[in-house]
Amino acid sequence: MKLLVTGAAGMLGRAVVECCSQEQTTVGVDLADGDLTDPAVVDQLWRRHAPDWLVHCAAYTDVDGAESAPELALAVNAEATAHLAAACRRTGAGMTYISTDYVFTGDADGYTEDASRDPVNLYGQSKARGEEAVEALAEQTVPWQIVRTSWLFGAGPTNFVKTIRRLLSERERLQVVADQRGCPTYAADLAQLLCCLIRRRATGKFHGTNRGVCSWFEFAQAIAVASGADPGRIDPCVTEAYPTPARRPVCSVLRDTRLAATGCQPLPSWQDGLRRYVAEL
Ligand SMILES: NC(=O)c1ccc[n+]([C@@H]2O[C@H](COP(=O)([O-])OP(=O)(O)OC[C@H]3O[C@@H](n4cnc5c(N)ncnc54)[C@H](OP(=O)(O)O)[C@@H]3O)[C@@H](O)[C@H]2O)c1
Repeated sequence: MKLLVTGAAGMLGRAVVECCSQEQTTVGVDLADGDLTDPAVVDQLWRRHAPDWLVHCAAYTDVDGAESAPELALAVNAEATAHLAAACRRTGAGMTYISTDYVFTGDADGYTEDASRDPVNLYGQSKARGEEAVEALAEQTVPWQIVRTSWLFGAGPTNFVKTIRRLLSERERLQVVADQRGCPTYAADLAQLLCCLIRRRATGKFHGTNRGVCSWFEFAQAIAVASGADPGRIDPCVTEAYPTPARRPVCSVLRDTRLAATGCQPLPSWQDGLRRYVAEL
């Protein structure tokens, strides 16, 4: 099977290429290879690589930026996804679309795979539109997967783990939001799950996060501990203390009810993923 991975220079895409290339022929592409919002670019990539399966990790991921650039967020997250889904439909290639906890409102205790989408910000809306484009493949007997994840950390220039470590080195004390809860996820762990779901040609919506739930404050404290710093230097604060252009879901916990049936291993705890990631830094 030949895999084409979009967003291969990004945090998740690079982990997927590294993991999947150990068992499948895997080609990674990113913006430098062409802008996926252009259908001609998608056609070209298809002619050049003729994939059997697409892992679509490319996205407009600037959550706050999407509030002032909604057209761009929609073009990348919804329209480009629709172009790619059309190419999969035409050629019978399978498709994995990476989505997000931000498709949910965040006012429930957690969300299972079939919970109704109701995003609170423009990034979430654009990703929800991307999900709709992929779901349309269900009517075409093309194998498809929507894998939602959350609070990713992993290789790359910036992520929450690196930010907290930098702030701890620059300041004596810091404040971190304690009233938003979610599931931190190590990109390398998620990549392993994606490889398995693709190998098994599982179809449908899945939730792929490391096990366990925490607040950003608890996550930051764990980062301090894993980095040998005093977690007592971090104080909790409320979301209102840090106004951002985009509203965030308060509780974006993704509950997994489907992975066991696929035979793929659930991910280890987020603390375990964090420990391995910090050891690699
Ligand atoms: N990060 C998280 O916490 C998180 C949480 C939940 C879900 N997700 C989802 O997980 C997936 C991977 O996220 P990530 O954090 O790995 O993203 P990322 O690091 O921002 O990588 C995305 C990649 O896509 C590329 N890209 C953007 N627009 C493109 C276009 N028009 N054509 C081709 N490539 C384009 C980007 O290039 P440039 O950098 O040059 O723009 C970047 O290399 C995304 O679908 C995201 O929505 C992420």
